[in-house]
Amino acid sequence: MSTQSNRAAWFQGGEAECDIKPGARARAFRLVLLGPPGVGKGTQAELLCQSLGTCHLSTGDVFRAASCQNEPSPALKSALDAMRRGELVSDGLVVSMVQERSGCLSCSGGFLLDGFPRTVSQAEALDELLEREGVTIDAVLAYELPLTEIVDRLSGRRTCSKCKAVYHVSARPSLKEGVCDLCGGELIQREDDRPESIRVRMRAYEESTRPLADYYSRNGRLVSVSADGSPEAILERSLKELQARATLSRS
Ligand code: AP5
Repeated sequence: MSTQSNRAAWFQGGEAECDIKPGARARAFRLVLLGPPGVGKGTQAELLCQSLGTCHLSTGDVFRAASCQNEPSPALKSALDAMRRGELVSDGLVVSMVQERSGCLSCSGGFLLDGFPRTVSQAEALDELLEREGVTIDAVLAYELPLTEIVDRLSGRRTCSKCKAVYHVSARPSLKEGVCDLCGGELIQREDDRPESIRVRMRAYEESTRPLADYYSRNGRLVSVSADGSPEAILERSLKELQARATLSRS
């Protein structure tokens, strides 16, 4: 039986409950992943969740899941249009979406936020929400990689149209070309992984998201991690950093 939750509370919001409730654990991690589009945040999030037993909360995944709705609201439609162009969705919409799911922030299993916050205003809103929920962030893992390698990761990414598993044409190929190893679904290229959208996303990152490194380094929560090498090597680096911080905070 799978021990991974279906994350219904995060994907559906409102009163939805996850199928698997987190068990009691000595330590629940509350982390934020920061870094440019395509640096490998989603890949690390999955690996970190397996290692730490926490839950992957991606705002991009919620928007992509909502894009399957037959009649999206005007606000959601404009968010999806912005995503396709590679622009950021408005702070107001993103923050209210996270507010509707604030129970996930106080979940006893902890969380790993991926793609939120993305602007200083979102980071301020998150701090307010966390204060209200009575929890704090353990660390903000900021992944770094040269731009040329990021573009290679993004342009080679393929995503399963059914289960959303992520592959890369050369670094993480599926066993059968174009077919998901996990569910047999068709592998497709994300609409915002086209060159013109990648350019817009990188600009949005530089203008709006990079300043978050300063925001989080001011209160000592920022941990820089090189995203060079294999996903497993990056995971090991991330866990070492978290362990070093835990040891420091105990001394
Ligand atoms: P979102 O879904 O958050 O995407 P992103 O931040 O652009 O990040 P990506 O998912 O593109 O990349 P990643 O870093 O997760 O890399 P991955 O692990 O897949 O946001 C999408 C859009 O939604 C935004 O543009 C915006 O419009 C909107 N949005 C979402 N949140 C928002 C917010 N808070 N505010 C406003 N708007 C918001 O890896 C990439 C590829 O590299 C894969 O193929 C993978 O297999 C491969 N790979 C990973 N690691 C390695 C490795 N170590 N070596 C080789 N290849 C690797």
